[in-house]
Amino acid sequence: MTLTDTFNRPLRDLRISVTDLCNYRCPYCMPKEIFGSGHHFLPKAELLTFEEITRLASNFAAFGVRKIRLTGGEPLIRHGIEVLVGMLKQIPGLELAMTTNGSLLAQKAEALKKSGLDRLTISLDALDDTVYRQMNDVNSPLEKVLQGIAAAEAAGFGPLKFNMVVKRGMNDQQVVELARHFRGTGHIVRFIEYMDVGNSNGWRLDEVVSAQEIVAAIGAEFPLEPAKPNYHGEVANRWRYRDGAGEIGVIASVTQPFCGSCTRARLSATGQLYTCLFATNGHDLRAMLRLDFSDDQIREHLQTLWQLREDRYSEIRSAATSQQPKIEMSYIGG
Ligand code: GTP
Ligand code: 5AD
Ligand code: SF4
Ligand code: SF4
Repeated sequence: MTLTDTFNRPLRDLRISVTDLCNYRCPYCMPKEIFGSGHHFLPKAELLTFEEITRLASNFAAFGVRKIRLTGGEPLIRHGIEVLVGMLKQIPGLELAMTTNGSLLAQKAEALKKSGLDRLTISLDALDDTVYRQMNDVNSPLEKVLQGIAAAEAAGFGPLKFNMVVKRGMNDQQVVELARHFRGTGHIVRFIEYMDVGNSNGWRLDEVVSAQEIVAAIGAEFPLEPAKPNYHGEVANRWRYRDGAGEIGVIASVTQPFCGSCTRARLSATGQLYTCLFATNGHDLRAMLRLDFSDDQIREHLQTLWQLREDRYSEIRSAATSQQPKIEMSYIGG
């Protein structure tokens, strides 16, 4: 059964955050001044168990969810994550993907593949070691993620996707470098406009490098042409190299919002359901699980929530809305 919201958008993707912890402190996501030693992270008992996650996931699948993406924080920090992948794999008809910073992939890639993970997206904000360390802000070397990428390839993942969040004055000089490095490899780099997600990153419009600028910079070196989306509601705009060396994606959520085709729901590590990345409030599904509600009752609730959904934050972003308290990205994933 397909559910649609007030703008006739179906529910197709579920992004599940499995932990609010991360070993990186990217300034656009978890700036270390705020996520420092004084920050209160979630105690283990607050997290959904793997059984609880799987039970919710199968209820979502019954409503037409076709893709589940595991996120964090950093999903590979959650102990036994490959076990969860194996459990979710038992739900028929689902594509399973993960977004990771790649720093622990060298140890985990093979187990993830064996458990049935279909696709991997790796965050990679620079190919210069100094800039990479500045972007993760914990001095983690580039070499570590390169080893993770090699392990992912060796385990049979591919094509891989790479996410680069572009922040002016920090890593914008690396845009063409990333394009150059992955041209011709079959992997796909997606360049992401820096967003005003959460309340911590001190976002300023003048630090956003627009999709238009990104495409112009890459296209000047390697001529590009637009390509059609792979599916309705694809987040990235696709561009192909004219010489046949592959494609890139550009995610323009600030300058060209895509709420009109947004089919995504997000589940926090504590079982709160958010119907928008920029939502202020979630809906507590964990309480339903822990109070022994039946699957029918859970589905009825999900149905009501989605049918009432009217989020379109990026399209109506304004000085007023961007002041509202928002959930942090590390609670609900990218
Ligand atoms: P595939 O097309 O399946 O590869 O997935 P995807 O494009 O959803 O990939 P991914 O999860 O890596 O998303 C890339 C980035 O796009 C995220 O990290 C966010 O920065 C941004 N993004 C994803 N979904 C949304 C959304 O619903 N709204 C906004 N504003 N940004 C989003
Ligand atoms: N703007 C854009 N993307 C962000 N991400 C995290 N914070 C931001 C932000 N402020 C995304 C990146 C990263 C993923 C985990 O979350 O794509 O790869
Ligand atoms: Fe961690 Fe990813 Fe956020 Fe960076 S963007 S702090 S790697 S969760
Ligand atoms: Fe979807 Fe909200 Fe992002 Fe718009 S801002 S695309 S509604 S998650």
